[in-house]
Amino acid sequence: MNRRLALFPETTALAATPAGEALTIAACDLHVLADRFGTPLYLYDAATLDAALGTYLQALAEFYPGDAGITYAGKAFLCTAIAQWAARSGLWVDCTGEGELAIARAAGVPRAQILVHGVNKSAQDLAAAVAHAGTLVVDNLTELERLADLWRQHQRPFPELWLRFRPGLAVDTHAYTQTGQQDSKFGLEEEELRQAAALCRRAGLPLTGLHFHQGSKFRDPAPLGAALARTLDLAQALGLGPIWTLSPGGGWAVAYHENDLPHPPIEVYVQAIARQVRTGCQLRGLTLPHLRLEPGRSLIARAGVALYRVGAVKHSAGRRWLLIDGGLADNPRPALYGARYSALPVRNPLRPPLGPAWLAGPYCESGDVLIEGLALPDINAGELVAVPVSGAYQLSMSSNYDGARRPAVLWLEGGSAHPIQVRESLEDLIRRDRPLPTTAA
Ligand code: LLP
Repeated sequence: MNRRLALFPETTALAATPAGEALTIAACDLHVLADRFGTPLYLYDAATLDAALGTYLQALAEFYPGDAGITYAGKAFLCTAIAQWAARSGLWVDCTGEGELAIARAAGVPRAQILVHGVNKSAQDLAAAVAHAGTLVVDNLTELERLADLWRQHQRPFPELWLRFRPGLAVDTHAYTQTGQQDSKFGLEEEELRQAAALCRRAGLPLTGLHFHQGSKFRDPAPLGAALARTLDLAQALGLGPIWTLSPGGGWAVAYHENDLPHPPIEVYVQAIARQVRTGCQLRGLTLPHLRLEPGRSLIARAGVALYRVGAVKHSAGRRWLLIDGGLADNPRPALYGARYSALPVRNPLRPPLGPAWLAGPYCESGDVLIEGLALPDINAGELVAVPVSGAYQLSMSSNYDGARRPAVLWLEGGSAHPIQVRESLEDLIRRDRPLPTTAA
């Protein structure tokens, strides 16, 4: 298979049309979707999402003999429909604060499947979590004291509490997405964690688990081993169990570009964790914990495709610019992390390349370059370009920069496309605004 095509969702195919071959996803004609819903347009392929989840569940069943489950990290992309998909698939949903919690609740995610994270949870975040979450991950001692107050005020039911451990070990990824290192703002270091556990014991708080998350977008599971060992040491020292939960977070990477292929599969990640936990527990005489993985990107990124229309083709000092109708506002990842994406034209996607092209958006920012120097065929104004692996951390970090309206999002399943988010309107841009007070002349 063509390596670039392999980045696209599993249901991607080439269909014969009078104008040549055209990319389809879930048997949907992308030209028809773009004409009907406009561009930029985000597509989520249900089959690819289900397949990634299936891979996780199968790997857990194969490699981990204990109880286990998957929590979807909503920060990758959360809206009502995605939360519904998670809930109906039996996933828990990791919500950052009361905002994502409100989305999960609107989607009908049951309390038991809602987990709340956050590094500086506000009083409102904590109140919402206590009222509606099944699990809350404690980030710091001040937060825990506030929770102890709520517990003393007899707020019941109360979420189960996990303590977030900062293992002092990072994974190999961009500095902005490392979280496990010693100087990170996230979690409790060992001594603080012991104090937190003691506070839980004194106050009678329901401490049931330990969590850590070393970072996001790593493809080598090796650093997880040392962090798991340190966490199991702590579990042993704290006397957790016999029923307890261990959550080694998420962070497994995906291939964004053909040069990232071959990419180690999800099984490699799950197997590495399962083996460590099994042998580590045996060694320490611990009962096997309920193992909760928390992936975002590796579940949803490949299911997503961003569709743009080329508005103009320009040349400057030897560079071929394809000026498209989205970029920085719907996908800040290239500007933030130097993320590298790939793309194909929708019409005759596999025609031979003409040379490198730079895909840039309409925003007033020289950093608004979605893709740099990608070999692409001769592409004309008016053509559609599809960017694969666009499902994670794009829309969830999108903005209204330059008055951009956030794109429509479609759910593709069984040959039909169903809108799950409509495009923002001009009215939406001023919905929060209020005029200046009238002053006496
Ligand atoms: N659990 C926790 C506590 C997290 O902080 C995160 C991601 C995840 C799970 C899920 O990580 P994933 O499996 O999706 O890598 N905006 C960045 C990524 C930030 C990740 C933040 N935390 C990006 O676009 O690459």
